Amino acid sequence: MSDPTAITDAEFQKFREFFYRKTGISFDDSKRYFVDRRLADRIKATLSDDFRSYFMLLRFQASGEECQLLTNEMTVNETYFFREDHHFDCLIQSILPAIVKRKSNKDPIRIWCMPSSSGEEPYSIAMCLLERWAGIHDWDVEIIASDIDTGILKRARAGLFSERSVRNVPPHMLRKYFTKSGHEFQICEDLREAVEFTRANLADPADTQNYKEFDVIFCRNLLIYFDDISRRTAADIFFNALNPGGFILLGHSESMSRISPIFSVRRFPEGIVYQKPVPIP
Ligand SMILES: C[S@@+](CC[C@H](N)C(=O)[O-])C[C@H]1O[C@@H](n2cnc3c(N)ncnc32)[C@H](O)[C@@H]1O
Repeated sequence: MSDPTAITDAEFQKFREFFYRKTGISFDDSKRYFVDRRLADRIKATLSDDFRSYFMLLRFQASGEECQLLTNEMTVNETYFFREDHHFDCLIQSILPAIVKRKSNKDPIRIWCMPSSSGEEPYSIAMCLLERWAGIHDWDVEIIASDIDTGILKRARAGLFSERSVRNVPPHMLRKYFTKSGHEFQICEDLREAVEFTRANLADPADTQNYKEFDVIFCRNLLIYFDDISRRTAADIFFNALNPGGFILLGHSESMSRISPIFSVRRFPEGIVYQKPVPIP
């Protein structure tokens, strides 16, 4: 008897197009094994007869619950504290000074971490602000952290991290902001409360239209999974979400200038970032 979870080339193709439209992520043929295995698991878990009936469920289930569960399985959530740490130096030494020059301190400084994965990036930002930015006493800072994956957001809110994940946290900060719980480290409640985690899809302008008036966006290590069309959609979303003069930081292998001429390139001593131009009066 043939395996009911086996996926044909044509089915893989159909799924790939569907998933790309939903998430902006495009799987090439080299990801076939990764995709097939996750689809087979979900076909079994939902007691679907085969790919065909599973694909119907995926597309037409009114709640969208299965589509969300599958998306959670398909995402790559690799992250850790103080990843590409020159960006945190850049935030403290160059970006925030540029922002506060133009802003009234009645308005909060708003930072969007998109995608946040399990929270290491927004929590790293929060710790840096507390440890290294004198302005923290005068300015109200809001940190919003978003991801498409609802499972990983749950973990981010719980704030429990592996030894591997905290390996770059300086020892004095580990002692100050974390409590050891078995083999894991839990970040303190004040920091958990300082970051608001929300589910949002960067491939869907309707989903992100209420994300507005940000001064800084961290979008690191997601655009590598997007093709040029999804990157352009993301660039437009960021443009609309930023205040004039606001900044975007991308991962080291990602470049905004290639996909969008709408941002200016700023070369700070700590690295290159992108800026939404300020209209000329
Ligand atoms: C490799 S992690 C990067 C996390 C963090 N920014 C970093 O650099 O360490 C990529 C994250 O992108 C999320 N993701 C994938 N597609 C997305 C989309 N369309 N919208 C929002 N988040 C998405 C995944 O769930 C995953 O958590």
